Amino acid sequence: MSDYSALPVPPMSIRFDQAAGTLSPAGPTLTRRMSDLEGLFRDQNSWRTAVADGDPIVYSVVSSPVPEIDRELPQSITTIHPGTTGGEFWMTKGHQHPNHQGEIYLGMSGNGGLLMFDGKDTRWVDMAPGTIGYIPPGWAHRSVNVGSEPYSFLAVYPGGAGHDYSWVLENGLGQRVWRQDDGLAFVDYFAEV
Ligand SMILES: [Fe+2]
Repeated sequence: MSDYSALPVPPMSIRFDQAAGTLSPAGPTLTRRMSDLEGLFRDQNSWRTAVADGDPIVYSVVSSPVPEIDRELPQSITTIHPGTTGGEFWMTKGHQHPNHQGEIYLGMSGNGGLLMFDGKDTRWVDMAPGTIGYIPPGWAHRSVNVGSEPYSFLAVYPGGAGHDYSWVLENGLGQRVWRQDDGLAFVDYFAEV
């Protein structure tokens, strides 16, 4: 909490740099390396090799100074680097909101997608600059970079929504997104490949 502005947060403007994927003023920044995505890629041997071979940064999240507490409306910009591990596109860990609340993503640069799963049905939304992806309450969500450039999006979410990452480890996300020729393919999350 100390990295955020002092409460109460005053009315303010926050500048975002669409090309750089930064916010100013900024709050906490999160960096996720390959080792942070343990148990998430289907091909665990390729994942282990990537961790041993430099443990690259897969994505980063820069937050605004608005704190993640109930009734506040924080924002963040996530940038996912391009790449695949064992053929599976680089992605965020994915999470469910413990307090089921909605969220919006706004595509800023690059090409990606928003994978959503409610425990039964799966949805995929193509994301490009100018696309708003809507995540309804109760849908776990993960972002995927399906392009050759960094993919960035702005997220706006209720501060009390929370992040449950273990939900995805237990339940998956319905589908996985694979590179196939010049495009992409979807495979069942727990299918052998
Ligand atoms: Fe979320």
